[in-house]
Formats: sequence, structure tokens, C-alpha cells
Amino acid sequence: MTTLDLGIAALRTAAGRAYELYDRANLLIKGILPKGLYQRALLIIIAPMLVLQSVVAYVFLERHYNLVTQRLSAGVVQDIATLIDVYKTYPQDADSAQLRRIAQDKLGLVVDFLPVNDLPPPGPKPFFSLVDQALSEEIRKRIVRPFWIDTVGRSALVEIRIKLDNAVIRVFAPRSAAYASNSHIFLGWMFGTSLVLIIVAVLFLRNQIRPILRLADAAESFGKGREVPNFRPRGAREVRRAALAFIEMKSRIERAIEQRTAMLAGVSHDLRTILTRFKLELALLGDSPEIEAMKKDVDEMARMLEAYLAFARGDSGEQSAPTDMAAFLDELKTDAERHGHKSSVAFHGHPIVTVRPNAFKRCLDNLVSNAARHAPSIAIAGHRDHRWLTVTVDDDGPGIPPQMREEVFKPFLRLDTARNQDEVGTGLGLAIARDIARSHGGDISLSDSPLGGLRATVRVPV
Ligand SMILES: Nc1ncnc2c1ncn2[C@@H]1O[C@H](COP(=O)(O)OP(=O)(O)OP(=O)(O)O)[C@@H](O)[C@H]1O
Ligand SMILES: [Mg+2]
Repeated sequence: MTTLDLGIAALRTAAGRAYELYDRANLLIKGILPKGLYQRALLIIIAPMLVLQSVVAYVFLERHYNLVTQRLSAGVVQDIATLIDVYKTYPQDADSAQLRRIAQDKLGLVVDFLPVNDLPPPGPKPFFSLVDQALSEEIRKRIVRPFWIDTVGRSALVEIRIKLDNAVIRVFAPRSAAYASNSHIFLGWMFGTSLVLIIVAVLFLRNQIRPILRLADAAESFGKGREVPNFRPRGAREVRRAALAFIEMKSRIERAIEQRTAMLAGVSHDLRTILTRFKLELALLGDSPEIEAMKKDVDEMARMLEAYLAFARGDSGEQSAPTDMAAFLDELKTDAERHGHKSSVAFHGHPIVTVRPNAFKRCLDNLVSNAARHAPSIAIAGHRDHRWLTVTVDDDGPGIPPQMREEVFKPFLRLDTARNQDEVGTGLGLAIARDIARSHGGDISLSDSPLGGLRATVRVPV
């Protein structure tokens, strides 16, 4: 192995690891992010707004606010420095009355002089105070004397004491003179406006998302074979286009089904006419074993045709309706018992399910009659949860070998022919049942039953 090979191998493992990491991060983000379109759209609007505001607020506080406070504090300290200077230069001012007056009138500072004494011990410092920091800094820089300040005590005033040679000057300055105090108004406006904007965005977004949800609902209903009576394209242009495309697709599918059904029905009908003629001709031919056999075949063909005609006609046009499944299954059981079969029935969950009742009954009837034909006892069980209705029909008959379980759904396919000749069936039962289940958006599957025979499971979305 050359060094080049080694290098390439190392690169490859590194790339693999990076890719794995990327994958995991992707999964994590996908897990955290909301799934719904509405929530996602909101996130897309709100997240940048929040980031923008945080950045603006931070920069503003950090720069502007600091600078203003510093400038204002410097102004106050300059005033005090001037007063101290005047105090020292004009000692003839008795009691410093003039000085106090000027300070009060022109500078807005309340000044008095205390006998020289030690300054009080430094008070508790506020946890985070720009005024305190800025003032201290300025006094230290411009006056260079021992001082004591209190920015906590009285909220509207800041107290400053500075030790002079023969006295202590005490100044009360309005806090607002040293402090950019209106920044909370800025923040208030900022958050207030963004709140209003977010509320407006939420309202507008909801209106934009609603047509998409309606389209999804309509598509889902159509998948379950239900009508969506007053679905109309609404909303933004793209959503409207999707809705129109959906409506068109739906009617194309319906037209195709209709056409196929009509054609098959027509063919079967024509064949029936010929078969009837055939029967008449056979009747005229008299009796011989060959003719008897032929008659039997023609009869069977006629029966198949009838069944097929029924199949092709289908249950088109039937409307979905809320149906009591528990009662439905009970009826099936009673029917089966009437024909001398041991049967049981059980149902779990909320029993009202929206299906096309006649079609669904035909579907289950076919399964139960199959079980009845092959087995002495039958167990019917229904289960309904928030998404699916599941009905199982179990029997203790011979069952169907696994490799045939898909085959038997084919129309006209019967395994019985070898088993018991005299039983009549056309082999359409399972095909029809599956057709019905699929038109409800579900399906039928066959498996082994705990009773020892076949289990047929119908699952349709609710
Ligand atoms: N419960 C069952 N146990 C064993 N075999 C079954 C069972 N159900 C169906 N089969 C087999 O599957 C074949 C197809 O069933 P299907 O219901 O489609 O037709 P059929 O019952 O023969 O006729 P039809 O239902 O039209 O009267 C049957 O002929 C039978 O051999
Ligand atoms: Mg059958």
C-alpha cells in the first residue's frame, strides 16, 4: 500500500464519519422541527423576526445605550467639577449660598456642604447598573478625589459625595440627568409591534393554509371512496391549481371506471342473449348423455355470467353513511347460525363507522359464506381504533395454502372444484370482496387462523 492509498483510505473514513454525523444531525433536527405546514410556516416567519430583534436589541443596548449613559454621566460630573472649582476659587461666598442657588436654578443639582468627615462605607452595589459604573468612572477621571455614590437608595435621585480639603460636598442629581432612561420605551415599542405583526401573520397564514388542508381532506375522502360534496378550489394560485388538477383527476378516474363497467356489462349482456338461444336450441335437440352434459356446462356458464354481471355492475352510486358495525357483525352471525354454523362475534371500539353499507355488507357476507362453506364454526371479530376498522373472519376449515392466498382473489378462481364438486360457487366472492375493501381505501388479506382454518382480515380506514 502506498502512502497515497493510505491517505485516500483515511479521507474516506473521515468522509464517512462526517456523513454519519450529518445524517444524525439531520435526524435530530427533523425530530425537533414541527411536522405541520402551519407550524412550519409560522416558524419560518417568527424565527427570523426573533433573531433580528435580539440582534437589534443587543447592538442597541450595547452601543447606543452605553454611550448615551456615559455621555450623560460625564455631563453631570463636569457640572460638579465646575461647582467644586467655583467653591474653591470664590471663598467670599458666605455659606456658599450663591453657589447653591446657581446649582439649583441652572444645573438642576441640589448641593450642600457637610463638615469634613470620613465618607460613609461604600453601599451595596446594584447587580447590573450602567449609571453606577459610568458615574464612578467619570468622577475618578475628572475629579480625582475620594468619593461616595449611591444610585440605589432613592430611585429618582442619585446621591454623590466628594471629599474636599475642608468639607464634603453632597450633590443630589436627578437620575434621568445621568442615564438614558427611555430605552425601555424603545424595547416596548419593538416587542409590541412585533407581537402585532406576528398575530397578523398567524391570522393570514391560517387563511392560506386552510385550502391546502381542505385539499388534503378531499383527497383522503376520495381515497376512502367517499364523496366530498362542496369541495371547491380556493386560496392561492398554486393551491387552486392543485385543487383543480385533483378534481379533474378524480372525474377522469370516475369516467374511466364507468366506461369500463358499462363495457363489461354490455359484453356480459350480449353473451347472455346468446346463451339463452343456446339453451333453447339444446332443449330442442332432445335427450342424450352428451346433450345433458352440454346443458350442464351452459347452465354453469350462465351462472358465471350472472355473477359477473353483478360484479361489473358493482355498487356504484351508493353513498357512504355512518353505520353501526357492532349490529352489522351481529347480523352476520345470526345469518350464519341460521344456516347451522357455530358462530361467535366480538367488537371493540366505537361502533359507528362511515362506510357504504350495502357494499360493505356484501364484502363481509362473501367472507362469512366462504367460511360457512368450508368449516363448521366461524368467529367474527371487529376492532376499531382512531385510524382503522379491522374485521376478521376466522374458521376451522381446511384453510388455503400460503402460496395460493393471493391467487384466490383472482376472479373465477376456485380451489373447491377438486375438494367438493357439488358445491356451487363462481369464484368471484373474494374478488368482489377485495374490490369493495379497496374502494373504501382498505384491503383484504388472508392468513392462518388460530381456529386452525383460514383468517380473512378486512381493514379499512375510518
Ligand atoms: N374460508 C375458506 N376456507 C378454505 N378455502 C377457502 C375459504 N374461502 C375461500 N376459499 C377458497 O378460495 C376460493 C375462492 O373463493 P371465492 O369466494 O372467490 O369463490 P367461491 O366461494 O368459490 O365462489 P362465490 O363466492 O362466488 O360463490 C374458493 O373456491 C375456495 O377454494
Ligand atoms: Mg365465496
